[in-house]
Amino acid sequence: MNKFWYFTIKKPIYLFFILFIGSIFFIPLFGKDFLSVTVKPADVPFPEIVRKDGKYILYVDGKPYLILGAQLWNSSAWPSILPGIWPQMKELNCNTIEAPVYWEAIEPEPGKFNFAEVDSLVYGARKNGLRLVLLWFGSFKNGSMSYAPTWVETQPEKYPRMHDASGQPIQVLSVLSEVNLKADQRAFVQLMRHLKEIDAEHKTVIMVQVENEPGSLGTNRDYSPKANELFNQNVPALLTQSLQKKSGTWEEMFGVDAPEAFNAYHIATFTDKIAAAGKEVYPLPMYANVWIRENFFQWPGEYPSGGPTSNMMDIWKAAAPNLFTLALDIYHQNVEDFRDLCEKYNRADNPLFIPEMGNGVHFARYQFYALADYNAIGVAPYGIDPFHVSPHDKRDKTQLDAKFDEIAANYNIFQKAMPAIINLQGTGQLKAVGEEEGLKERLVSFDHYDMVVQFGFPTYQEPDTRSGRIMIGQLSDDEFILIGFDTKFTFRPKYGSPYNKAEYVSIEEGYYEGDVWHRTRIWNGDAAYHSTLPPQGAVIKVKLQRMASSQELQQKPNFEQ
Ligand code: DGJ
Repeated sequence: MNKFWYFTIKKPIYLFFILFIGSIFFIPLFGKDFLSVTVKPADVPFPEIVRKDGKYILYVDGKPYLILGAQLWNSSAWPSILPGIWPQMKELNCNTIEAPVYWEAIEPEPGKFNFAEVDSLVYGARKNGLRLVLLWFGSFKNGSMSYAPTWVETQPEKYPRMHDASGQPIQVLSVLSEVNLKADQRAFVQLMRHLKEIDAEHKTVIMVQVENEPGSLGTNRDYSPKANELFNQNVPALLTQSLQKKSGTWEEMFGVDAPEAFNAYHIATFTDKIAAAGKEVYPLPMYANVWIRENFFQWPGEYPSGGPTSNMMDIWKAAAPNLFTLALDIYHQNVEDFRDLCEKYNRADNPLFIPEMGNGVHFARYQFYALADYNAIGVAPYGIDPFHVSPHDKRDKTQLDAKFDEIAANYNIFQKAMPAIINLQGTGQLKAVGEEEGLKERLVSFDHYDMVVQFGFPTYQEPDTRSGRIMIGQLSDDEFILIGFDTKFTFRPKYGSPYNKAEYVSIEEGYYEGDVWHRTRIWNGDAAYHSTLPPQGAVIKVKLQRMASSQELQQKPNFEQ
């Protein structure tokens, strides 16, 4: 046989033969995976939150990640609803969806589990290229127990409730009951075990919220006989030590806040034990979220008492070490409250995460503040899909509701700038300004430049639209990244330096892919003259040089449009 026939026919056959015989020996020894080149579960890193250089970074797939999220309405995580949701998530440009897992649905009978709905969520998110944060609607949902299975709700003698001050049981499960704890824990552990089975190789689910807005609605603390007995004893040593207080009773230590503090300690302990049991099976990052107290005239019990409210954070931190953060739900359309709450929840021991927020242009502005000024690891408006509404609602449910348009626009440019935002967070070199009521311009200072940002564009817009919002990051001495909408910008060297004029070297519009910057166009001519971020938003890199010019001592922002 000549060489040609030997190589084209015989050798491939020998090769195939060798592989076939080899697999007969190796498959039983190493399993079928030895033939596959796919990444093994152990190679897909767990998402983690790492504190580095004084700030927190969330890593997903081993890379820095910002949650540009969307939370579903409470009753939308069902296979009958989900298919309509995925296209809307694309329109929203989000990268993460937050969706509930209902205790009543996964454990319809004690010890019998059903994960059909969880599967449709996980597989659906994965197929649509989205990450998932699961919200465990277990013993607590908005300070109540409405998602506990019927067999829990209808047997209060077996699954005891908290009592109010008049001694009446209320619709809140007791956290002092071992039976209640074990029941919730068992279901949560089964959920985590199931996630491990179906998702360990992918890590579609990146974190889990344990319970939803825990606390007791209707009472400032549990007044059951058992609770009363504990309330009259000394505060547990763990808490006394962690808060560096002298030992004493709850009232001695916390005064008027004693009932709330008592509830907070026991609810945090209960939640932490559930998180710990779940993490033992499958260690995803876990957190709790808060129904805030900064609300009108409310007193504890009018909001869920003992939740991780700003005044109870230290207690939660001491009693719930398995939660990486206490996350902020915020619907207040008031920029001062928003900033105040971000400050309270962005602590050295608590990365800021906002898993629920309002929508519209106001919250689109607030997202800028959360990410730039308070280093948020993620933001998410609530109620993103329209499927909660009455069937008589005539809106086109195949499209994203217009009230999320500005959030979708935000996410579009945040995705493009994500590596720069994460790098600059916590450095003091990233600042945000939004077109708040009455604000027409603001001076922002960096190392070598001052900058004026101006709002009121485009001029044909309704005056109360207030869509102007900008994030400015200093990349190096003479280079800045600008991320935003409807904002005019002007730079000038700082007073006291030898320079009085800033000249554009280049203005590039573009996006990041990984750490690599891709330019899509150069702004010059009128674009550089007007220097205004457009209504559809843009990410631009501005290179400047500082000049000394005798004619330009009075350089002013250009108001012409
Ligand atoms: C906060 C809760 O956590 C959500 O589940 C939802 O009920 C919203 N409130 C509704 O505003």
